[in-house]
Amino acid sequence: MKKFIFALTALAIISCSTTPQLSQEEKEAFEFADKLIKKMTLREKIGQLQQFVTRKGAITGPDGVARNVEEYIREGAVGSFLSIKKPEEMIRLQKIAVEESRLGIPLIFGYDIIHGCRVQFPENLAVSCSWDIEAIEKSASIAAEESAAGGLHWTFSPMCDVSADPRWGRVSEGAGEDPYLGSKISAAMVRGYQGNDLASEKTIAACIKHFAAYGAGQAGRDYHTVDMSEMMFRNRYLPPYRSAVEAGAVTVMSSFNDFMGVPASGNKWLLHDLLREELGFTGFVVSDYDAVHEMVKHGTAADGKDAAMQAMKAHLNMDMVYGDYIAYGEELVKEGKVSEQTIDMLCREVLAVKYRLGLFNDPFKYGRQNREEVWYRPENLEFAREVAAKSMVLLTNNGVLPLNEGKKIALVGPLADAPRDQLGAWIGWGEADRSVTTLAALKERFGAKNILYTKGSDFRKPIKGGIEEAVRLARKADVVLLSIGLSYKESGEATSLTEITVPEAQQALLDAVKKVGKPVVVLLGTGRAMDIRNEVEMADAVLVTWHGGTMEGAAVADLLSGDKNPSGHLTMSFPYCVGQVPVHYDMKITGRPRRGPQHDKKYLSRYMYTPNEPLFPFGYGLSYTEFEYSDLQVVTPEVALGGVVKVSVKITNKGKRDGEDVAQLYVRDLVAETTRPMRELKGFERVSLAAGEAKVVEFEIPTSELAYCHRDLTTKTDAGDFLVWVGADSNATLEGKFTIK
Ligand code: NOJ
Repeated sequence: MKKFIFALTALAIISCSTTPQLSQEEKEAFEFADKLIKKMTLREKIGQLQQFVTRKGAITGPDGVARNVEEYIREGAVGSFLSIKKPEEMIRLQKIAVEESRLGIPLIFGYDIIHGCRVQFPENLAVSCSWDIEAIEKSASIAAEESAAGGLHWTFSPMCDVSADPRWGRVSEGAGEDPYLGSKISAAMVRGYQGNDLASEKTIAACIKHFAAYGAGQAGRDYHTVDMSEMMFRNRYLPPYRSAVEAGAVTVMSSFNDFMGVPASGNKWLLHDLLREELGFTGFVVSDYDAVHEMVKHGTAADGKDAAMQAMKAHLNMDMVYGDYIAYGEELVKEGKVSEQTIDMLCREVLAVKYRLGLFNDPFKYGRQNREEVWYRPENLEFAREVAAKSMVLLTNNGVLPLNEGKKIALVGPLADAPRDQLGAWIGWGEADRSVTTLAALKERFGAKNILYTKGSDFRKPIKGGIEEAVRLARKADVVLLSIGLSYKESGEATSLTEITVPEAQQALLDAVKKVGKPVVVLLGTGRAMDIRNEVEMADAVLVTWHGGTMEGAAVADLLSGDKNPSGHLTMSFPYCVGQVPVHYDMKITGRPRRGPQHDKKYLSRYMYTPNEPLFPFGYGLSYTEFEYSDLQVVTPEVALGGVVKVSVKITNKGKRDGEDVAQLYVRDLVAETTRPMRELKGFERVSLAAGEAKVVEFEIPTSELAYCHRDLTTKTDAGDFLVWVGADSNATLEGKFTIK
């Protein structure tokens, strides 16, 4: 890890010249930036720190005056734009920046390309359920190439916020409840976006967000306050951000929330001490949308000028949208409230990233490829179909799936033919008219005449005659597929819910078709974990299809037909009810643990009328075949600190179909210096087994992976005894023991 020593002065946080252990590429970029800065006026430097959206060609500054975009660009008063929909518009603005501004500094264009650009992959929570790190990396690299072909330089992804609260709609954008898996995924996404060469016209800059702990908002309410101990933060929330920094992400976004009483965008401990000094981040930090100015509403800044000052001194490089940086930056320097050295430091980090992207060499290189040829490549669509199938999770199945050929299928529900909803939240440049819906794909796979379709209900409102029609079709069919769940508007930012059940109008549909007496399969479309007790009780099978992206329908057809075998495993526990939330597999054990549902004494840590356990635990997922885990062997019963723990297990496919499973390894530190989780994921592997085949899988866990934050807030591994389990979910019972000496 790169370490930096920063000279602290009263107003300037950092000395520009102290940059030991930089890569050659970074050094070159900073040298370039330092030379350029010498030619820049104060206003031009602050301009690089300002990002805007273009609203009908005008930018409204904090003074309330609308000025046109071109004017800002010409005077070098803006360094970046976000969310521009048209490639031609980016080219036009870039031309003005390069040809008509005094120094011709190129703009950097960012957008939320979070689970695909043109080809939409399933929402991120869904993709994490594939546990397929290579596929995740490849999906990010496809998104990068498609974005770059359209002229984008920068995506606001990956979202590294760990969260176990499905009331929070943004869980759809993350990798679930587990920091270990989240870390593998965040690093893979950075590698996918940035590749080995940031300057290539196929790669774009990644942005680690939302720094930090945005997933821990109180009560699952978006933008809500966050309050936790540093120990909890280091153990549970920091790892995915850290691993994305280590993977080389060149930008970070500060979060909306406060952290230890200080809004993230003005939080020097987060943005400087931790991110730069401890984690060794060398790129630039952009605020979330208006988040600098929101410090005024948080009640920690008197006004926009105070907010800008605090953010600059906290080491936040770029102000997203509101405009306090460009409005007050010069005044702040002139009044001696922010030093020009600080501005230079903030600016050089932005310029260096632009340089590393190759924008100074060729500001138009992104977008120069023939985008029509890059967008929607057939092999990428096919890959999205594969990823969608791997992401879907089979939760129950009494044998009704896979469906037999030649059956009449009643397909009912608001998600069966919902091209926009299946794409999920934040689709950037995604296009609903390219979606392959479940209706279209089932017709193709099972024959149009065998599919009897009706919508039956809207998401939250009944449709007149909808239930009657659904019942009529169910009577004519051999099996009923109910494609129900949440709309895309109930996923992502600002979609917090206190009820996480399937909406009543759709439950009424389920009640009615169930009475017909035909087998019922629920296809659950959602971007979050839900309370699905009712669906599980009533349906013969439940397949979580998520918001599965452009190719969702084709993937559903692949799985229902048995052409592919389900292999997804949950990365977020499905709670028994919302009252348990947050419920996650790696909770602490407490001094009064309840050991399983039968352990029913009064003074235990438990609920009176509800189980402690979720309905479906982290890691859970079925397939059409049966996997048996046996012969767990701890190859290294004693390991020295700094060594590697080796564990092997045999997995046998005992069924008649080929399949893939996700073998998961969990550990528990038996006696630690602080209270520790009941178990923690420390290894996993997707294993492919033909019918009847057996394989021995070996796990290697460096003891450094068992480190945790101690009372003195240092993170290290203890010697001592550990239990280890391997299996197909977080309830794995096959057990072993090892000791670190
Ligand atoms: C607000 C969201 O919180 C963030 O994730 C996103 O990247 C920005 N808006 C920009 O669209």
